[in-house]
Amino acid sequence: MSKIIVSPSILSADFANLERDIKRVENAGADWLHIDVMDGHFVKNITIGVPVVKSIKKVTKLPLDVHLMIENPENYVKAFADAGADIITFHYEAVEGVNGVIELIKSCGVKVGMSIKPKTAPEKILDFLPKLDLILVMTVEPGFGGQSFMQDCAEKIPLLKQHATESLIIQVDGGINAETAKICTGFGANSLVAGNYIYNSADINKAVSSLR
Ligand code: DX5
Ligand code: ZN
Repeated sequence: MSKIIVSPSILSADFANLERDIKRVENAGADWLHIDVMDGHFVKNITIGVPVVKSIKKVTKLPLDVHLMIENPENYVKAFADAGADIITFHYEAVEGVNGVIELIKSCGVKVGMSIKPKTAPEKILDFLPKLDLILVMTVEPGFGGQSFMQDCAEKIPLLKQHATESLIIQVDGGINAETAKICTGFGANSLVAGNYIYNSADINKAVSSLR
């Protein structure tokens, strides 16, 4: 069994105390830091952008796992890479030319991820898997933290795994807690994003380790 990569989502952190809340998950043994970028167009919420990523880079050594829930991600990829993103994940549904965006992200020297929303069939994206470092299977409708896990989304994972290379990271995001994490890793996920479960727990250390 490969190592599970835990990527806490700072969407559930206290933005007025972001450095403190980043340190909390870092000390709890998180592997990556998940940063949700939303533009109010691709999803009905607005969160954070390039300047915040740049500031976060200065206060943590954790790899920055940047999840772009934005239209026209190709216009912002370079800026996020320059700001310190280590992994940039765009949405399949947000772009016209998938291959072009994959190449663009690679050309910035960062890892490339692609995400699919709950209603997107996994069959549609199988051809792209060999070109990706990471596939993100959304287990809620993107836009907000604290929603309930959709098991039928996680059921897409076995098919993706069948067509994936050994090194492809299969990430899930949305409604992940100790219980739903088990379901996802059982299907073959090896990276877990969790916001609400980690940041709203009484013991962050326990919450992070309970996901593994
Ligand atoms: C939702 C975001 C998630 C969100 C997950 O659109 O992509 O990363 O922070 O939050 P929880 O773990 O609370 O469902
Ligand atoms: Zn996310």
